[in-house]
Amino acid sequence: MPAQLTSEPTVQDQFRRDVLDGLRAKPKHLPSKYFYDRQGSVLFDRICELPEYYPTRAELAIMRQHAEEMAHCIGSHGMIIELGSGSSIKIGLLLRHVPRPTCYVPIDISGEHLQEAADRIARKFTDVEVCPLHADFSGEIKLPEVVTSVERRVVYFPGSTIGNFRPAAARDLLTRIATMVGPGGGLLIGFDLVKRRDILERAYDDAQQVTAAFNKNLLRRINRELDGDFRLAEFSHRAIYNATHDRIEMHLVSDSNQTVSIGDAQVGFSSGESICTELSHKYRIESFNQLAAQAGFSVGRVWTDSDNHFAVAYYSIEE
Ligand code: AVI
Repeated sequence: MPAQLTSEPTVQDQFRRDVLDGLRAKPKHLPSKYFYDRQGSVLFDRICELPEYYPTRAELAIMRQHAEEMAHCIGSHGMIIELGSGSSIKIGLLLRHVPRPTCYVPIDISGEHLQEAADRIARKFTDVEVCPLHADFSGEIKLPEVVTSVERRVVYFPGSTIGNFRPAAARDLLTRIATMVGPGGGLLIGFDLVKRRDILERAYDDAQQVTAAFNKNLLRRINRELDGDFRLAEFSHRAIYNATHDRIEMHLVSDSNQTVSIGDAQVGFSSGESICTELSHKYRIESFNQLAAQAGFSVGRVWTDSDNHFAVAYYSIEE
């Protein structure tokens, strides 16, 4: 058989390219989507239970209190497409109330997590057609063929993951979602609200240092998958609120002058130099409504928790 000269880059090739590009840039950065290997997903689930990390609890409280109204916005004959479905906990609260028939398409970058969660939902809601899709939703998405007759597509995007995109990229993603759901379609989305600096910084730098372990796990993943030799003890976790951009910035700061190898590439760090590993934008309701409007959505409803820490909103595209 003739040797194949060109081929699509593998996930691993892309990971290597993104890591080397990010570490050769000034300032250094790494894409936060690579946090979620198996260990990273486990650590993220632990973050969601931390006393300091309010977003998950606040969003769950909103879902528990208002799921029926949300389900009413979605209606029957819907295809609910969940972006970054993870453990699919919140969708259960919604599916309990969504009128049938309906189908559910969870999309996640972590394949193992996705299948387990999809199986659990399918066992619990036997009359819902569940079609998991293993994909990176920041790229192109081809929706699966389904049996259910679909009159409306609704994207469910919980967890304030939209905050991990810079505003221009968030607008692009919302615009792609608008195209995906089309006229009559909807978007049910969770986003985190601007609040006091101390509450925010504690949420991203907890006393048990689970967030620090989550951040450093990215270096461990590079060591394992890309033959790196990062010494984790030589880097410190930092989380700072940048009030100019309304965002938490997560960093790994080098504690010494050092050189790290990644395969046959070398990257130098000076003492105090940082790698930005994540941005987590916080919004005001009006500014998020504007972002959604720029993507073509009209505001339907906005729900918040009793502390006004978090918001879930339903937007739709006119027919
Ligand atoms: C997934 N994402 C919305 C989380 C956040 O709050 O930005 C990721 C996270 N990073 C540290 N803690 C949680």
